[in-house]
Amino acid sequence: MQYDAEIIQTRSLSRRFGDTTAVDALTLDIYRGEVFGFLGHNGAGKTTTVRLLNGILGPTAGSCRVLGLDPVSEGSALRRQTGVLTESPSLEERLTAREILFLYGRMYGVDPDRLVARVTVLLGEFGLEDRADEVAGSYSKGMRQRLALARTLIHNPSVLFLDEPTAGLDPVGQRDVHELVVQLSQESGRTIFLCTHDLVEAQKLCHRVAVMQRGQLVAMGTPEGLAQELQQGVHLEITTDACPPNDALVGLPVITDSSDRLSAFSWDESTHTAGVWLSTREAIPSLVAALVTAGIHIYRVTPVEPTLEDVYFAINDRSTGDHAKHPTP
Ligand SMILES: Nc1ncnc2c1ncn2[C@@H]1O[C@H](COP(=O)(O)OP(=O)(O)OP(=O)(O)O)[C@@H](O)[C@H]1O
Ligand SMILES: [Mg+2]
Repeated sequence: MQYDAEIIQTRSLSRRFGDTTAVDALTLDIYRGEVFGFLGHNGAGKTTTVRLLNGILGPTAGSCRVLGLDPVSEGSALRRQTGVLTESPSLEERLTAREILFLYGRMYGVDPDRLVARVTVLLGEFGLEDRADEVAGSYSKGMRQRLALARTLIHNPSVLFLDEPTAGLDPVGQRDVHELVVQLSQESGRTIFLCTHDLVEAQKLCHRVAVMQRGQLVAMGTPEGLAQELQQGVHLEITTDACPPNDALVGLPVITDSSDRLSAFSWDESTHTAGVWLSTREAIPSLVAALVTAGIHIYRVTPVEPTLEDVYFAINDRSTGDHAKHPTP
């Protein structure tokens, strides 16, 4: 990903509500064409940040700019170029999908000569054409979400804010939204700011992610970069004919867990799979050689890469001081 133009910039951005600091000195730079994942538990400050970036709320300290504009003082100019899918979008229940798209197209000043074509394209892309003339109140949740997303895009915004776009959708609905997000991000350098709890979703869709906790940014980077930073070493799963002897580990850089047990294989009898943590991938061939020498038959060796979910829990453990579940080198 080429980080050529800065689209969203925050500097010590903060927002308090009484005694609650919903967003606490947030500093971020997000670039054109990025799908940026904004992760965090309930109440972490994700939605408040989206509101600040769109001028719906003003900051109590710090500043932000989106497309070079101040969201509070230049909010109307900004909103002509951004689209926001809110957490629980409400639809005009008594209007049809086609009517809603026309209504929003007129509100956003879409050229009337182009609006018919734009509505037709969106209805097609979002799989709504068959029911385009039925009222939105009769739609299923997945269709409602697709319509809300289509409505957000009517003026072809270059920056898109999606606040938990797949919450409450079934797996098919989630997959549809994921495909749309990928498609939308590939069109003309559009930047997408995606708030989500769903780590699988973030790993699949996002170029970079930020993790928020109680209003504060606690980690930021690519999913792979964060995984490497937070979880050193490699976890190996080895399918064999018998539990390997621990002697095979002598002299290898094995990572022990915090309970300080001896360096040892874990063993799952039902799948005949041994597990072990090594501090470097370079030690894998030596381990395989030692197992072969010990007369073990190896059917499969799989380095298990840490997922964004592992990273997320490692960050939580780090901040709560609970390191017991994760080996530390
Ligand atoms: N208008 C408001 N008035 C008072 N407190 C608010 C307001 N909006 C948000 N907060 C508080 O700010 C904190 C952050 O809320 P926010 O909605 O930004 O979190 P979130 O990360 O979007 O959470 P969720 O995952 O549940 O949507 C919470 O403690 C919330 O109660
Ligand atoms: Mg929220």
